Amino acid sequence: MASLPRPSPPRAREHVLVIDPVDPTGRAYHFALGGDDRMVHVCTSAQEGLALLGEVRPDVVVAALDTADLPGHRLLEALRHRAPGVPVLTVATHPTVEGAVQALRAGAVDYLGRPLSPGLLSEKVVRALGTARASRQLAQAQKEAGDKWGFTQLLSLSPRMIGVFDAIRAVAGTDATVLVRGETGTGKELVARAIPDRSRRRGRNLVSVNCGAFTETLLESELFGHEKGSFPGAVGRRAGVFEMADGGSLFLDELGETSLSVQVNLLRVLEEMRFRRVGGTDPIDVDVRIIAATNVDLENALHDGRFRQDLFYRLNVYPITLPPLRERPEDIPILTRHFLMDAAKEYELDPATPTPEAMELILRYRWPGNVRQLRALCERWVIQCAGRELRAEDLPGELRQGGKPDEATGGIFIDDSVPLPQLTERVLHQVERAYLHKQLLRHKGHLIQTAAACGVTRRTLFNRMKALGLDAADYK
Ligand SMILES: Nc1ncnc2c1ncn2[C@@H]1O[C@H](COP(=O)(O)OP(=O)(O)OP(=O)(O)O)[C@@H](O)[C@H]1O
Ligand SMILES: [Mg+2]
Repeated sequence: MASLPRPSPPRAREHVLVIDPVDPTGRAYHFALGGDDRMVHVCTSAQEGLALLGEVRPDVVVAALDTADLPGHRLLEALRHRAPGVPVLTVATHPTVEGAVQALRAGAVDYLGRPLSPGLLSEKVVRALGTARASRQLAQAQKEAGDKWGFTQLLSLSPRMIGVFDAIRAVAGTDATVLVRGETGTGKELVARAIPDRSRRRGRNLVSVNCGAFTETLLESELFGHEKGSFPGAVGRRAGVFEMADGGSLFLDELGETSLSVQVNLLRVLEEMRFRRVGGTDPIDVDVRIIAATNVDLENALHDGRFRQDLFYRLNVYPITLPPLRERPEDIPILTRHFLMDAAKEYELDPATPTPEAMELILRYRWPGNVRQLRALCERWVIQCAGRELRAEDLPGELRQGGKPDEATGGIFIDDSVPLPQLTERVLHQVERAYLHKQLLRHKGHLIQTAAACGVTRRTLFNRMKALGLDAADYK
């Protein structure tokens, strides 16, 4: 490795491997890409770069296509082979359209020409890192969902959802009644369906009924069945869902929407596991495991007398409450990526990739319709932005509004997922670096003038620039 000028910062999380014979000290790269959360490793030959892969384990590679020891396409091929899934940005001294096409075909995610612009380089690398991070996290969530929990559809990396997964696992093997609660679109139905999949009733009937979709009379008949002629329109005898689910499980969805009289009947059936068809006289005994779901605030409904307390107690044996999406921000990037890829596959289009700015807006939005709303928007975005980036401008107004920097913070994005000292340090670092960058630009790297404009001594300026990875030579 030709240079590693700064000691490894303790929080370095992401590693950039640069292979470039033209810039042996890697100064331009340290300037553009260095930072507290990132380590830049620089080397000058393809062989050296390939040898370093195992040690550095880069999250992104920036490779010049004109190393002396290996033709560009061979280097790309070797990188793809030895570091599969790691994005490679290529740099060409004499960029050509044909060269760009070849590099992209060989698997590069980008093709940059010299002279390298620090701003563009940094933007491209941040983008590649973001995409790579999202796909790593999605792969991890998919693997965990499948291997660890045995769910095929429920994806999550959020500790709060891991609690839900634990709850599902704990209750699934029993015959206990489960009440799944949560705002609309949080995944209640997915959870409800995951339970019988893992129970001893697995493979037996799972019958589901949307209690909110029927009038009172029709719901009674849907639940308990009816005898011929028991009401106008009851042309033949019909079994209800309780009968159909016998030996298996019954999913009572939107239970909070039922009328009080249906609630009375339901309670009796749940207690006795015995009922009569509408218009029938003979009691029917069943063995059914109940899973109920509702997005209605049941405490409120109890208080207002819209939901019966006795039924609530009967159902609330094992409640599972799903947190709204805005309370599990870890899940937003993985679900976005998952739904974008899913929709792209379904519509046979190229997936769209959100830019970091767009992702930030997506993260900051409130998501009142939760995962369902995110899924629907991802489908729209794939059609709207097939094969290109999903930019902040592509997002609907309410997302862009939600992402406006808080006035009170003077336009700085407050990332409340990190501890305060870390945030303060990060923000100060960003502000100081941006400030010095501006002054250095204005004074074309002239240190005396820059120091005077900043109101500090030359020595202080020099030290701060060193600490922040700024080099006066880049501004001459
Ligand atoms: N963790 C998750 N991983 C993947 N997909 C999810 C997840 N949670 C929800 N979804 C998807 O989001 C959509 C809404 O989920 P679901 O129908 O289970 O919500 P719900 O809580 O029942 O909503 P409602 O109260 O409106 O009926 C579905 O398309 C579902 O597949
Ligand atoms: Mg539902």
